[in-house]
Amino acid sequence: MLIEANALTKRFGGLNALDAIDIAVGDRELLGVIGPNGAGKTTLFDVLTGVVKPTSGRVTYAGEDITGIQAHRMPHLGIFRTFQRASVFRELTTTENLIIGRHVKIDTNLFDDLFLSAKCRKQEEEAREKANQVLNFIGIQHLASQFAGTLSYGNQKLLSLGVALMGEPKVLLLDEPAAGMNPTEINKLMTLVKELKKSLMTIIVVEHDMKFIMDLCERIVVLNFGSIIAQGTPQEVSHNEDVIRVYLGNKATKRC
Ligand SMILES: Nc1ncnc2c1ncn2[C@@H]1O[C@H](COP(=O)(O)OP(=O)(O)O)[C@@H](O)[C@H]1O
Ligand SMILES: [Mg+2]
Repeated sequence: MLIEANALTKRFGGLNALDAIDIAVGDRELLGVIGPNGAGKTTLFDVLTGVVKPTSGRVTYAGEDITGIQAHRMPHLGIFRTFQRASVFRELTTTENLIIGRHVKIDTNLFDDLFLSAKCRKQEEEAREKANQVLNFIGIQHLASQFAGTLSYGNQKLLSLGVALMGEPKVLLLDEPAAGMNPTEINKLMTLVKELKKSLMTIIVVEHDMKFIMDLCERIVVLNFGSIIAQGTPQEVSHNEDVIRVYLGNKATKRC
């Protein structure tokens, strides 16, 4: 297994946002995580990516203990994420946002910068090339020089995905990537995620859009009140009685 969480617990005051959960994600797997609002899905991502420290439990990556490692070190391990809300620099252009996403790959120092060393120029060139590739991949080349704040929300979400791709992830965690997108954009996103999977990436995706989850994921983990209530193939999970109960209970909010 590439990523394993053992007895992972995160407590906020008296609330167990994650309650001793065990999750194992295989290399190149596309794992879906679903559950009602407040189930602990984002907290799981926060703990896996070092945004918050777990109260207890362990996370290993390729056999190495990475529990509590700080978020800024994750890109060096090849672990990248996107957030529930589009997170772009609105005053910068699409391309500039992408180039900033490349900073994790840039290892020049101030001396290199000051004298515009060959290494620095090469890395800048690489960043521009990669930004073009990513722009083509996510299909927003025509928006390259627009300010990110002027993009539609769906395109801002796509750009957030693009920024994560600039670091060339081995593992990508997507927190509700389709939220705020229209049906056309969701279809496009599904195609992109399929392509990413083919490119041998390991992906964990939290999503409320059931078509997205059911069509794309080989395995689904269902969280409720910080615990895993079911896991299995889309078929298995959709017939699980506990899952059906949780979903019917949340029907009023249209969130599943
Ligand atoms: N920083 C925090 N402080 C206190 N409670 C939090 C914090 N973050 C999340 N929670 C609580 O933890 C629970 C799980 O939240 P979250 O992981 O965001 O759920 P989900 O992403 O599944 O909707 C919720 O009850 C939420 O209110
Ligand atoms: Mg969430």
